[in-house]
Amino acid sequence: MKFEKEILCIGAGYVGGPTMAMIASKCPQYRVTVVDIIPEKIDQWNSADLPIYEPGLDKIVKQARGKNLFFSKDIGAGIKAADIVFVSVNTPTKTFGAGAGMAADLQYVEKTARQILEYSESSKIVVEKSTIPVRTAQAIKRILVSDKSDVHFEVLSNPEFLAEGTAMRDLENPDRVLIGSQETDSGLKARNELVEIYANWLPKDKIITSNIWSSELSKLVANAFLAQRISSINAVSSLCEETDADVGEVARAVGLDSRIGSKFLQASIGFGGSCFQKDLLNLVYLYRHYGLNEEADYWEGVLKINENQMDRFVKNMLRNMFNTLAGKRVCVFGLAFKANTGDTRNTPSLTVVEKLLAEQAEVAITDPKALDNAARDLKDAKGNYELISDPYEAAGGCHAIAIMTEWELYRDLDYQKIFDSMQKPAFIFDGRNIVDHDKLFEIGFNVFPIGKPKKVHF
Ligand SMILES: NC(=O)c1ccc[n+]([C@@H]2O[C@H](COP(=O)([O-])OP(=O)(O)OC[C@H]3O[C@@H](n4cnc5c(N)ncnc54)[C@H](O)[C@@H]3O)[C@@H](O)[C@H]2O)c1
Repeated sequence: MKFEKEILCIGAGYVGGPTMAMIASKCPQYRVTVVDIIPEKIDQWNSADLPIYEPGLDKIVKQARGKNLFFSKDIGAGIKAADIVFVSVNTPTKTFGAGAGMAADLQYVEKTARQILEYSESSKIVVEKSTIPVRTAQAIKRILVSDKSDVHFEVLSNPEFLAEGTAMRDLENPDRVLIGSQETDSGLKARNELVEIYANWLPKDKIITSNIWSSELSKLVANAFLAQRISSINAVSSLCEETDADVGEVARAVGLDSRIGSKFLQASIGFGGSCFQKDLLNLVYLYRHYGLNEEADYWEGVLKINENQMDRFVKNMLRNMFNTLAGKRVCVFGLAFKANTGDTRNTPSLTVVEKLLAEQAEVAITDPKALDNAARDLKDAKGNYELISDPYEAAGGCHAIAIMTEWELYRDLDYQKIFDSMQKPAFIFDGRNIVDHDKLFEIGFNVFPIGKPKKVHF
């Protein structure tokens, strides 16, 4: 069968895999190929056991794979055949040299651009899907300037706003799709081509366009605002704990103001994941680069509150468990950075585990999807920890439970059974405010929510 368009995605990760699966499933007239430099990842995408967990992803991949969705190791052939190339490679925080710990590490993006140039025999649209610092398109464009006179590259920015855990829903029904282009004839033509792809399943008014720099910056700013809301409510939670106010009640009252809105006002152990921290650091770095230090300090404060929230959590455990955790067994419910994903990148839970190990606690970690990643993350950790898939087994014999991930499963456990199996006094520290605190208190637990009055038996 001849396909109308050849779409390639470079980078088969949390963004590349799900976004391309969605395009393939909505657009049977296009052939969609996803490539990666890690051959094992491609094997996994071609197997029954996909490399990432995302509700709904399995079904959609299995339906389209082999028909118009292909996962391939041959990056060169993929580039040669493509009309449109999405770049969805990782852009982690730089760990070396200038800007270490702040700036985005663009080596993967740059390598991708060089690969595109090397293998291209025809003109292509190159779409930045990775989150990158503003003006990266210019760098990509400069690399892509070709001596092959009949080959032209048009670079677009199309940042991805999906959230892990709800990626398929977000892709199927996004709040908006943003496409940035240069405002030249060829830029606008390329932009229209990308609009047409999304218009296969989205109403046109959800597909918004802008200049390329606004598009790049919008993604960083969107993540900064989301992270800022979490830090704002977390900053309120500490005051609530001191004053016996209830952060849930405050959030409800505040969130009903239509100018503010109720989303992202859930106090918690703090945000994690691969994006918020790195994108905020990246933004702060940009501000400092332009000498805008007051603004840089402002956004940096969002990160400081987040770190403080985890620190406060462990100090609270320590203080309430008679100032020592040494030799005590603590059960950690959840290592994933949020529910419905196995992703543990930058997860607050890992930070808490490391702090608990530093206090010489024995840590039993349980999670329905993240234990493989946890084993990798903790392989060099010093201290006494175990990974146990059954939460009842993990909690048995423990002095305390720390709820770190808002998995639905943890709401509905038989807490009487768990209480009976624990050391007494039994403590529960709810870093997500997801369990019924009154009920747990009645069972006999000493309960410590975030931003709400504690309930203790002594
Ligand atoms: N994860 C999210 O929720 C999310 C959401 C929106 C945007 N983003 C952004 O999307 C980008 C990708 O994120 P991710 O979570 O999918 O990362 P990821 O690490 O899961 O995937 C990136 C993939 O790119 C591959 N890769 C790197 N260099 C390559 C090259 N030269 N050729 C072929 N493959 C190469 C890597 O091997 C990896 O498999 C990042 O910029 C991120 O900030 C992520």
